Amino acid sequence: MAERDPEPGAVVLAKPSHPHESAHLHVTGQARYTDDLAEPGDMLHLCFGQSTEAHARIVSMDLEAVREAPGVHSVYTAADIPGANDVAPVAHDDPLLAEDEVVSHGQALFLVAATSRDAARRAARLAKVEYEPLDAAITSAQARAANSLIEPTQRMARGDAGAALASAPHRAKGAFEMGGQDHFYLEGQIAVATPDEDGAIHIVSSTQHPSEVQHLVAHMLGLTSADVTVEVRRMGGAFGGKETQAALFAAAAALVAARTGRPAKLRCDRDDDMVMTGKRHPFEVAYEVGYDEEGHLLALSLFLSSPCGASVDLSPAINDRAMFHADNCYYLPDVEIVSERLKTNTVSATAFRGFGGPQGMLAIERILDDVAARLGRDPLEVRLANLYAAGRSETPYGMEIKDNIAPEMIARLRENARYDARSKAIATFNAQSPILKRGLALTPVKFGISFTTTHLNQAGALVHVYADGSIQVNHGGTEMGQGVYVKVAQVVADVFGVPLGTIRCTATRTDKVPNTSATAASSGADLNGMAAFNAASTIKARLVDFLSRTYACAPEDVTFGADGVQAGAARLTFGEVARRAQIGRVSLSSTGFYATPDIAYDRAAHKGRPFYYFSYGAAVSEVAVDTLTGEHKVLAVDILHDVGASLNPAIDKGQIEGGFVQGQGWLTTEELVWDAKGRLLTHSPATYKIPTASDRPKRLTIELWDGQNVEPTINRSKAVGEPPFMLAISVFSALNRAVAACLPEARCLPPLDAPATPEKVLAAIAGHRKEGTQA
Ligand code: MTE
Ligand code: MOS
Repeated sequence: MAERDPEPGAVVLAKPSHPHESAHLHVTGQARYTDDLAEPGDMLHLCFGQSTEAHARIVSMDLEAVREAPGVHSVYTAADIPGANDVAPVAHDDPLLAEDEVVSHGQALFLVAATSRDAARRAARLAKVEYEPLDAAITSAQARAANSLIEPTQRMARGDAGAALASAPHRAKGAFEMGGQDHFYLEGQIAVATPDEDGAIHIVSSTQHPSEVQHLVAHMLGLTSADVTVEVRRMGGAFGGKETQAALFAAAAALVAARTGRPAKLRCDRDDDMVMTGKRHPFEVAYEVGYDEEGHLLALSLFLSSPCGASVDLSPAINDRAMFHADNCYYLPDVEIVSERLKTNTVSATAFRGFGGPQGMLAIERILDDVAARLGRDPLEVRLANLYAAGRSETPYGMEIKDNIAPEMIARLRENARYDARSKAIATFNAQSPILKRGLALTPVKFGISFTTTHLNQAGALVHVYADGSIQVNHGGTEMGQGVYVKVAQVVADVFGVPLGTIRCTATRTDKVPNTSATAASSGADLNGMAAFNAASTIKARLVDFLSRTYACAPEDVTFGADGVQAGAARLTFGEVARRAQIGRVSLSSTGFYATPDIAYDRAAHKGRPFYYFSYGAAVSEVAVDTLTGEHKVLAVDILHDVGASLNPAIDKGQIEGGFVQGQGWLTTEELVWDAKGRLLTHSPATYKIPTASDRPKRLTIELWDGQNVEPTINRSKAVGEPPFMLAISVFSALNRAVAACLPEARCLPPLDAPATPEKVLAAIAGHRKEGTQA
């Protein structure tokens, strides 16, 4: 068990890099996504009919013309659902098809099954629906005025923020907004359902959560979980957008398959996908902060508010995670964090990389930028003054931080990226450049790893060793591009001392590993890697026992390594061992299970240890802003990121780069616009701009911190999926500094909201000039 429990102080090394297990298939177009599976001749293609109102009572629905349209096989409404009309993850408030009332524009009303996707889409437009419009809360302000909430406002606090504010030498108030974000996975939502014999059903779904799809479909069809099998070989991106949102499409396909006895596929059109599926929560932030002359925060009263959309979805946990990350790397002595969760008549907001963490973290980073601007100090000095340290190491939710490596990481990055010299050079540049202004910022990340809903922190795996020595690995984690399959395969290869090529990863299926959690919260490799390690270790222990009996040696004298298996004086290949074990009637298959230890959280009090550990990182970003057009470029980015002792450095660097650029998109170009009627106007790549290759910083360096996890995770590695997303806050902070350079003497922060589109940057420049000259 050396891997799990190194001797205290022993250094665990990063494992070697290996390509993604499907890299050769991705680049040659041979990787099979759900839509690439061969279609049986009798397959039906589906399309939803959608609500054209944000909030209304359905008076009547005339679907005659839809039924009569060319190619249409059948049309389904809520009345056709045999079991529960529910695709919600927690609160049972997301119907598959609307019943009497619609609560957001684009909501699914009915389902068309036709001989082609095109026929289904054309027919879906022919419905005549009569609505009685109801009062709709589209904006946060409207929801707040109507006291429309998905759950009561939450409060997390330590000390007495009010009293500490009153006695602080300086006080400042501020407010700002940040937008949401569409996931824009390259493979859109899709599911194929195939009826099996005797009422069973098989579903291929592009989902991060096969078990949840299985349960929802079973309830919806009045079946048991054992009747429903959900399979996911891979997704073409998910980013949280397929944690709950995939269920709608899978359930639709399952309904039609069950009703018709024919296979049914729903591949959602991109525009419909953007309209119908939930996105990242936008946030409004308001704060009052008390601080001293050096910029030490003494008191903080923080108000976070997000429009959660029309249903609960995962919004409680997402907003909790925003509260958990409103400290980031900083000690907040007297603090109160209030979090309002508004119910709006817009599509329900959902999980998105970081899961609320980015929103909370942007809040505190902006507050530190504000304090620095008011004091006329370098924001990095203010950040350093507030870092967690010995004696100042408890989070607002009462968790003790064990491995506070942020100060060391910041110091090293500051040095490596030449922060100080470049800061000076930029000040000189800005003084001589009237139109183009540059900005530089260093921001850190501390991200809590574990599902904050404690029971979700579990995983299972199934490992088979075949008699020829080849190995199949299966686990509950889903592959969405992040590389969890190759990481888990590496873990198993190392247990048996075999080359990675010996291992075949098989599709995630609910009939192989049951009762799984979503692959989310960045915990895929932590949880499934350890479960697979346990499964492989069970088989290995049997082999050791068998070999020590066969070759009359002590169990300690059986070793598995790159040169094969040594059993006393005998040396065998792994294939020979497997063959002999099979003849010797030794079981070569095992399940494995893992549950994260030591975590517990009291949600009512917002106190406890919700996270097993923290992942850290820091980034320096340099930007240039054109103050006439508001456009910008990210010129150079230096990242130092902590993945513990990496399971696969190449995969981890890919996650860091991808996460960073996706975060850059969130904060700079990706803007969601709804009209007053609650219609999403930005529902295609023509109007919604994700980063492209040309937006990638011209110079981007990524270095891994050479540490290891303080906790005994698999190989002492750390989760990597989400934390790097938040490194992009450095871009936003740098943009603020570039805008501030328009008026270097002003002691205030430009009024810049996110995303910093050219329009917003121009508005911030104007606002800054006005405010700065008045001050
Ligand atoms: N990387 C790719 N290529 N595609 C994705 O969809 N999702 C992210 C992250 N990295 C994603 C990704 C999100 S939101 C999470 S929670 C993690 O991967 C999930 O995988 P993991 O737990 O195995 O890291
Ligand atoms: Mo990731 S937002 O936890 O799927």
